[in-house]
Amino acid sequence: MQPNHSLRDRAAMNNANAFKIGLFGANCSSGRAVTLVTERWSASWTDNLDLAKLSDDAGIDFLLPIARWRGYGGHTDYQGSTLETVTWAAGLLAATKRITVFGTVHAPLFHPIIAAKEFVTVDHIGQGRFGVNLVVGWNEDEFDMFGVKQREHEDRYAYGQEWIDAIKMMWSDRADFDFDGKFIKLRSARSEPKPFGGSRPMLMNAGSSPVGRAFALRNCDAFFTNAPRDSLDVLTEHVKAVKSEARQYDRDIDVYTVGVVTCRPTSAQAEAYYRHCIIDNADWSAVDAILAKKKITPEAVGADEFERQRKHQANGMGGLPIVGDPDLVAQQLANLSTAGLRGVGLSFINYKDELPFFCAEVLPRLQRMGLRTAERSSLSR
Ligand SMILES: Cc1cc2nc3c(=O)[nH]c(=O)nc-3n(C[C@H](O)[C@H](O)[C@H](O)COP(=O)(O)O)c2cc1C
Repeated sequence: MQPNHSLRDRAAMNNANAFKIGLFGANCSSGRAVTLVTERWSASWTDNLDLAKLSDDAGIDFLLPIARWRGYGGHTDYQGSTLETVTWAAGLLAATKRITVFGTVHAPLFHPIIAAKEFVTVDHIGQGRFGVNLVVGWNEDEFDMFGVKQREHEDRYAYGQEWIDAIKMMWSDRADFDFDGKFIKLRSARSEPKPFGGSRPMLMNAGSSPVGRAFALRNCDAFFTNAPRDSLDVLTEHVKAVKSEARQYDRDIDVYTVGVVTCRPTSAQAEAYYRHCIIDNADWSAVDAILAKKKITPEAVGADEFERQRKHQANGMGGLPIVGDPDLVAQQLANLSTAGLRGVGLSFINYKDELPFFCAEVLPRLQRMGLRTAERSSLSR
């Protein structure tokens, strides 16, 4: 018989770590570093499998992939080779014991009946460790590839609402129900089995517009936000504002951000490597292609702002740079926790090469600060 796990167990990613640490973007070539350096991330299956096992053993809490259907171009065709995220999660969950693995799914591209069943299948493979990052669409040319027209911005989230409502009905005890939405129409729909353990997969979203954020706060367990970099006070206020907006919907939401880590024995070494990868050897042709996709050009925003955005993009497409020796990196992560964040999705230039040092040096520091424990999942097999 399946044990009955509460959603809270899943939302806490099944362990006692006060501050969660995950890896972001490892299913994509180059990960989140727009760089030419030859050690940049391959995103091959074997590298992903090794990384997941390493992360599982070291106590990393989650793996969050990016749903990307075509690369950004440039010399490296940044994120041009990507593993599809739900099948990626299925393979990784079968090969690990405690880590939470997300799939990232474009709601308009996956029929809700297929999506609901895929998610349940993967959730059973992981015995309750699967999560869904629900995205409604970003890059126009990805949708063109499918022959699917992106809806107007507000309608994307209206569609997303119907999509997740329909999926939650299929996960519930309802059987043979009709769903009569504006966009989605289902007749006598049913789906068996239900998600693992009498609960459902954790849901997250990272909308940044007011309508996107409201969608996340109404529907999801975790909200990912690009952290303002101005100061700890500004970040703290930002997190507070998100949480208080969630309370308007009667929701208590966990807020996360994403960061890009360069950690070396000395801060001078870390800064030198960061400069080497992200400035001296950035793939500037890919950076410009990313910006062009967002219609950010010198003509549109002015030369100074364009230059600022270029530097920002090369580094993990805007993720928070966390550069330093283990003490400094641990302190910067602790600051995120102090600001009220529940956790962070991190990227490295080469995840597999750099993770062991990070786990050996930074995680014990966070344990000593009381932010993490060595405790393992209550759901481990
Ligand atoms: C952490 C994070 C992960 C995201 N993952 C994806 C993704 O995998 N695929 C995608 O198309 N968009 C992704 N997005 C984009 C968001 O889903 C969202 O579309 C974007 O922040 C713009 O917000 P808006 O839709 O409210 O305008 C991500 C954003 C963040 C901050």
